[in-house]
Amino acid sequence: MAPRVVRTVAALRRAVMQWRAAGERVALVPTMGALHAGHLALVQAARRRARRTVVSIFVNPTQFAPHEDFGSYPRTLAADLAALAALPVDLVWAPSAEVMYPAGFATRIMPEGAATAGLEDRFRPHFFSGVATVVGKLLIQCTPDFALFGEKDYQQLKVVTGLARDLDLPVRIVGVPTVREPDGLALSSRNGYLNAVERAAAPTLHRVLAHCSGEIARGQLLARVLDEGGTEIERAGFALDYLEARHADTLQRVASLKDGPMRLLVAARIGRTRLIDNMAVSRGRTAKGAKRRTG
Ligand code: PAJ
Repeated sequence: MAPRVVRTVAALRRAVMQWRAAGERVALVPTMGALHAGHLALVQAARRRARRTVVSIFVNPTQFAPHEDFGSYPRTLAADLAALAALPVDLVWAPSAEVMYPAGFATRIMPEGAATAGLEDRFRPHFFSGVATVVGKLLIQCTPDFALFGEKDYQQLKVVTGLARDLDLPVRIVGVPTVREPDGLALSSRNGYLNAVERAAAPTLHRVLAHCSGEIARGQLLARVLDEGGTEIERAGFALDYLEARHADTLQRVASLKDGPMRLLVAARIGRTRLIDNMAVSRGRTAKGAKRRTG
């Protein structure tokens, strides 16, 4: 059965208050719709944490720059509701732009820290204030115990974690591992923009991340590994925005694995599509290698 859709803050609050009165915990999965198996993995993770799950579907205009794809972003509400019908989703929160941003709306959350790390923010300067503002509103509207975000958008996950912490929002932000196609391409609502040639090249991002991650874990020089990785991505037909190694929590620059847990992050454009991906560098592999070498 398709989940109930609510379109006003008052109706959302009424439903959540009833659950709370019954002592039930609530999890929120914020999305922009065009749902795929990555989004559904968030819903499943929500279900493991809380009795009640709310999925929000809102293509947020404030996180798109004028030249970006707000107008053409896929809007597939009927298919999204059908996909959610198979899952234990209690409510879909689908406000209009007028409900989310009524006339006279004049407040923006401007995140710093992870939001100014020089990754996505360098190429999409408006993006994280749009995300933080809408996620802040969603968390206040829904007051969930848990909110689930994909590691696929790793910098966004860190920004949202900082937002909840800094504003004392009583919610636990939970990151969920990236869901991929069998060839490694991270699922994304924007993969539908790729033509056949671009789609064939797209798994290069994941392949290069995995290769770089292995080389760095093996002790190879960071700068050289990333340089060669970037060249391979460009050879596959991409224009590279960045391929960088950062501290996995703070997103600060790192020089080697000695600086703490490391995450590789990449963004690249092919045709009219911009793709992002990321991967952990496992220190375990270095330790195991060292053990083998010493006997
Ligand atoms: P959207 O791109 O629809 O993604 C919604 C959530 O799904 C995000 O937390 C994202 O990281 C997660 N996600 C996307 N692809 C995934 C994949 N392959 N595996 C696992 N999780 C995946 O991100 C947004 O919307 C918006 O910025 C939003 C947070 C809703 C604010 O408008």
